[in-house]
Amino acid sequence: MKIAVITGASSGMGRELALLLDQRIPNIQELWLIGRRRERLLSLERRLRKKCRLLSMDLLEPSSFLSYERALEESGAEIVFLVNAAGFGKIGAVSRLSLSEQLAMIDLNLRSLTAFCRVSIPYLSGKSRIINFASAAAFLPQPDFSVYAAGKSYVLSFSEALDEELRGSGCRVCAVCPGPVKTEFFDVAERDGQSIAAYKILFMARPDRVARLALRDSVLGKKCSVYGYSMKLFRLLAKLLPHRFFFFLLREIQRLSGSMDSNRTLSNKRRNP
Ligand SMILES: NC(=O)c1ccc[n+]([C@@H]2O[C@H](COP(=O)([O-])OP(=O)(O)OC[C@H]3O[C@@H](n4cnc5c(N)ncnc54)[C@H](OP(=O)(O)O)[C@@H]3O)[C@@H](O)[C@H]2O)c1
Repeated sequence: MKIAVITGASSGMGRELALLLDQRIPNIQELWLIGRRRERLLSLERRLRKKCRLLSMDLLEPSSFLSYERALEESGAEIVFLVNAAGFGKIGAVSRLSLSEQLAMIDLNLRSLTAFCRVSIPYLSGKSRIINFASAAAFLPQPDFSVYAAGKSYVLSFSEALDEELRGSGCRVCAVCPGPVKTEFFDVAERDGQSIAAYKILFMARPDRVARLALRDSVLGKKCSVYGYSMKLFRLLAKLLPHRFFFFLLREIQRLSGSMDSNRTLSNKRRNP
């Protein structure tokens, strides 16, 4: 049985990719939809034509990797697409966000993504594709989004290296690096933290468009999918210019818009352990 596995299928870009894989990839026989909110997975299942298997689990629990591995073993499935879209970010200074939130970001965005890739490898075939959601935040360290951006650099680097390792087998890995996308991501990112910088709203993309490009780039065997000219330019500039130039620019933008985090002091290290 040929399957597509999608983490983060209950909303945003994971959901969009589930819809696209359902419509556009005829040889997929079953979609495995993963997320914590079962009711969301059920409502997505009702919209899909292909058979679905719902795995409602919390990927912060290490037992979830074992359950996934067992499900693969028992089904004898062949993975045609693996989409790692589960992830979250929290906006705020390292000294301001709680330690538990920051470690959870690392656990979900890096650890679970790595585990899903590793567990899936024996079930890939010659033309399988892995789509890993990194971010344009991977191109440059981001003050007030430090852990998230550093984690996405890991995803980009890991995906590129894994693509090289798997190349001989015919499987390809694509890292998706969008700028801001209009999804529920910001409901979580801004909760108890800071608001998204106003200038980022200007670059907000539609999730269906980012997902469509990601699928196309992955099928074409591209290592990296970057939606929009502005993010392509940002990627280029981040390679060419020193980081301190961007930090200066960000400080100036924040100063002019009055959004500098006035609470960013060392005393915050005592808050929210
Ligand atoms: N939106 C953006 O601006 C943006 C930009 C660049 C990159 N990205 C990346 O793109 C990916 C998709 O984000 P999105 O924008 O589509 O966000 P989203 O709409 O908030 O979707 C996030 C998904 O992750 C799942 N998830 C969160 N915590 C989980 C957990 N502990 N266990 C299992 N699943 C969990 C959520 O499902 P449940 O809540 O049901 O568990 C949800 O389906 C993420 O990796 C994100 O970092 C987003």
